[in-house]
Amino acid sequence: MSKNKNNKAIWSTRIKKNTTSTFKKVGSSISIDKRLFKEDIQGSIVHVEMLFKQKIISFKIKNKIIWGLNKIQNEILKGKFDFKVELEDIHMNIENRLHEIIGEDAGFVHTGRSRNDQVVTDLKIWMKTSTLDLIKLLESLNKIFLKVAEKNIETVMPGFTHLKNAQPISFAHYLLAYFEMFKRDKVRFANNLKSLNENPLGAAAFAGTNFNIDRFFTTKKLKFNYPTNNSIDTISDRDFVLDFLYTVSTCSVHISRIAEEFIIWNSDAFKLIKLNDKIVTGSSIMPQKKNPDPLEFLRGNSGSSFGNLFSMLTILKGLPLSYFKDMQDDKKLVFNSYDLLKNSIQVLIDILNNFSPNKKRMLELANEGFILSTDLADYLVQKHNLPFRKAYMVTAKIVNLAETKNLKLYELPMKELKKIEPNLDDNVFKVLNLRNSIKSKKSYGGTSFENIKKMLKKYKRESK
Ligand code: ARG
Repeated sequence: MSKNKNNKAIWSTRIKKNTTSTFKKVGSSISIDKRLFKEDIQGSIVHVEMLFKQKIISFKIKNKIIWGLNKIQNEILKGKFDFKVELEDIHMNIENRLHEIIGEDAGFVHTGRSRNDQVVTDLKIWMKTSTLDLIKLLESLNKIFLKVAEKNIETVMPGFTHLKNAQPISFAHYLLAYFEMFKRDKVRFANNLKSLNENPLGAAAFAGTNFNIDRFFTTKKLKFNYPTNNSIDTISDRDFVLDFLYTVSTCSVHISRIAEEFIIWNSDAFKLIKLNDKIVTGSSIMPQKKNPDPLEFLRGNSGSSFGNLFSMLTILKGLPLSYFKDMQDDKKLVFNSYDLLKNSIQVLIDILNNFSPNKKRMLELANEGFILSTDLADYLVQKHNLPFRKAYMVTAKIVNLAETKNLKLYELPMKELKKIEPNLDDNVFKVLNLRNSIKSKKSYGGTSFENIKKMLKKYKRESK
């Protein structure tokens, strides 16, 4: 419960009994929202500057409050601030301490505002900075994707559909697929800034205020773009929280997909990549083990992020307008998703810096599973004028033959091939080649080495 200097709850004149000790403890959010102390102090300083400019409080009181707030900030930064659970949240903790430091004049700080607009203001300021942090981190991540891709333009590997060999690709092309995903995540985070740039301060409890406040002044000083338009919506709105949690979730989907793929590729069955000792852990009983724990950590984190998104959606579903205690959990969810994603991106960066493709094995596996069948069908269309469906059927027969004889497509004798398609000649062997297959995928966005080189140039230009 919130208390003033005399250690009484702010509402004790009205509410005669102390809140039960159970609820005081469990209903308190200070352990979570103390993370907003800087934003809360910044918001309060700008608020009192505005109150002074509007002649609502005196110059002396404004300065006294700002002095007190700066002192509190220092105490918190130096670890000398005593956060009190019974004072419920960061707003009450700071206001109470202000009372202790400057006395009754501290009471002017809450003129024309409510904790309801205060908490949304603090959270939006915090989320703006954190969103920009995540955008920067994603940029660093994508630089590494470019670096690894550049080294692997000519690295041939099997591309999979249904986890079965499908068509050969360049490993760089695969890595750049993730580059695109994280580029989209960056755009999504940047789009979120639009609503984060609307200033809630001044909506007060939910109806606005009868003081002649200047919301455009606080908007400018707090580096928002506009004041919000409707005070009821301002207090009720947590769409910006949903946007953030969704964006984090989508980004963590991408992270968990590469994590899962790398786990599979690192397995003893696939052996397509090797993780160096910095990104594996051992077993407590099996001495030989090198386990991909960091990758599994990434895959797991995504589950917790989705949980946070679903918690917030469920909290808001059917909630009548303006403020309810239900909303207090928004911060826990946002902070947790932020921490999860930040850790995940950093771990993914470590992984990308500490793995290597097993090029020999990639090539070996690419030679399995008649991976050039589509190239053969395309060749029959292009060189022998067959309709694609006919070419597909002829190729399927050739694959059946190769399978029965336990040969690769390029090992089949011409005599046998001619029995299936009489027009075939030795030229066909040119398409039955992994590198030629990749080279031929020249359509825009395809895996040809030339395309990848051009794409890399474009990405580098864009990221300057
Ligand atoms: N600790 C509260 C929260 O985070 C602050 C807003 C409280 N407002 C109220 N009317 N109880 O949601």
